[in-house]
Amino acid sequence: MFQALADDILKNKFSSSESIRFYSAAVTKGLADIERQVFDKYLKKEGRCLLLGCGAGREVIPLVGAGFEVVGLDLVEGLIFSANKLAEKKGIKLQLLVGDMRCLMFKDNTFDTVIFAAGIIQLLSQKQKIEVLTEAKNLLRKNGSIILCVDNNNYYFAFPYSFWPLFELVLKMKWKIRKINKGPARQIKQVSKVLFRPFVQSYFLIIFNILTIYFPSFFIDLIRGLKKRIMGKFYKGFEPGQRFIRKSFLVELLSGLPITFYRFKDVKKDIKESNMRLVDYMTTWGSYWGIDNNLPLPNFLKIRSPWITYVLKDF
Ligand SMILES: C[S@@+](CC[C@H](N)C(=O)[O-])C[C@H]1O[C@@H](n2cnc3c(N)ncnc32)[C@H](O)[C@@H]1O
Repeated sequence: MFQALADDILKNKFSSSESIRFYSAAVTKGLADIERQVFDKYLKKEGRCLLLGCGAGREVIPLVGAGFEVVGLDLVEGLIFSANKLAEKKGIKLQLLVGDMRCLMFKDNTFDTVIFAAGIIQLLSQKQKIEVLTEAKNLLRKNGSIILCVDNNNYYFAFPYSFWPLFELVLKMKWKIRKINKGPARQIKQVSKVLFRPFVQSYFLIIFNILTIYFPSFFIDLIRGLKKRIMGKFYKGFEPGQRFIRKSFLVELLSGLPITFYRFKDVKKDIKESNMRLVDYMTTWGSYWGIDNNLPLPNFLKIRSPWITYVLKDF
């Protein structure tokens, strides 16, 4: 079974040398705020954890370094090799396996936590998502949890999260203006450089996004909604509002992968179908490595967050 799956598009994409370089470099970033927050709350020091899609070790290296017992699994041998090498440099010994989350071969009741690393569940079809979640549930010991790290929404158009890049820009400019040297001619040149360049960039980005994402999406959703209404339960296409991730900093790396945003209501539906319950979810204000969102936002805004980390348990 593993052999049959191993040769597919996912493996090819993630085993390219570009991907290995990218995920190895990501290791220096370490855990994102949202991950740190959820791991602090739900990982047990005395427990055993399985991390699916460990890549080159961005999460597993700091977790093992902090004394957690974590088994990392990834589809790509090159990434596992890189993770072992990076950990060795830090004097950390990892337990890593090459394998496929679509056919997990562990005994039932062997882990206290199963983590689906950033975005990986979104690489699966809906049927596979439910199969994999159900299998992960079987691996859990009593009172164990599943942690799902999910791309929920388009960052630039998830109001009010979309304000964050502009706010960040203003902060950056303030910091740069403080560093400007004295002297009028130099000052004018530098101020225009600081003020003008980022604004041109962000206006361009906003207009580009409106033309390429927002505007077409509006019509695509309208057509999907109409089709769904007409075809009723026979409609098998994408839901209105569901997006393929085409544009991201991983454009080259991910283009062609069947990854979609996995939206709150779909996650909730799949959790129910896998016979589990949602016990907690954490959202993030801004980007994945952004600031924690403990703001007292109402739920309907929280669930629009670009990233959501879910915690699930068995009944
Ligand atoms: C978005 S990357 C994240 C890597 C790492 N967690 C990080 O954040 O740096 C997704 C990872 O999942 C792995 N992956 C994709 N499909 C998989 C599957 N079916 N089974 C196991 N790993 C998979 C890829 O090889 C890749 O390393």
